[in-house]
Amino acid sequence: MRELLAFYQEAGVDAAIGETPVNRLAEEVATPPQPERPPPAAAPRMITARDLGTNLNAPPSPDAAVMAAREAAGTAATLDDLRAMLDRFEGCALRTTATQLVFGRGNPQARVMFVGEAPGYEEDKSGLPFVGRSGHLLDRMMAAIGLDETNAYIANIVPWRPPGNRTPTPQESATCLPFIKRQIELSRAEILVCLGGPSAQTLLNTRDGITKSRGRWYPFPAGSRDLRALATFHPAFLLRSPLQKRLAWRDFLALKKALGQ
Ligand code: URA
Repeated sequence: MRELLAFYQEAGVDAAIGETPVNRLAEEVATPPQPERPPPAAAPRMITARDLGTNLNAPPSPDAAVMAAREAAGTAATLDDLRAMLDRFEGCALRTTATQLVFGRGNPQARVMFVGEAPGYEEDKSGLPFVGRSGHLLDRMMAAIGLDETNAYIANIVPWRPPGNRTPTPQESATCLPFIKRQIELSRAEILVCLGGPSAQTLLNTRDGITKSRGRWYPFPAGSRDLRALATFHPAFLLRSPLQKRLAWRDFLALKKALGQ
């Protein structure tokens, strides 16, 4: 049993979805008897954006979730407000399977901010972004150009770990987008570094893959400030494809130059 559980964990299956195990093989195939006449349908109830900040049993419609996120994120005056708001936000189902919110790491007053895709297993456990294997590589790459937690800020598009480390769905990314945009606005970053294709595509509103977008600078308007954004490979990709580190190193040298370091 211990080996089976270890196998599940290795495969990313590390969340139980019920209190008691179910033997699906023993279940009867017969469908339950249907009532003769269906009960009268309840009158449809409008789900407003405001509802999503409170308790809601039915899952919100995708549009309502994005609207609620925009409305909530726009009212956050500080990063602490924003974190508290995200902690209460019920428009993204990922919060129900994640252990905790993974908001940010490093110095929000720094001139550079890195944004990845979504937390993984280690991040979910610790509540901090990029602290697992790819985080260690990111730390080493940052250190090579004089960056660390004192002069860089790190976050993700999606602040909750998707179960089994799957890629966030476009809907989950769209729902979380207003929050990460506000987080960027409320930071003091002048330069944004998108780590990997999903981060670049979501934040820079491009359909280009990372092989095309990496190494390029993009304008990034953030409220009253105009940032510059650079796309580069995700450290998890570099762990799998070490030959690409050469190109990532080029991007980091361009970042170093832009920071005047
Ligand atoms: N990958 C990400 O995109 N973000 C993390 O925080 C960790 C791994």
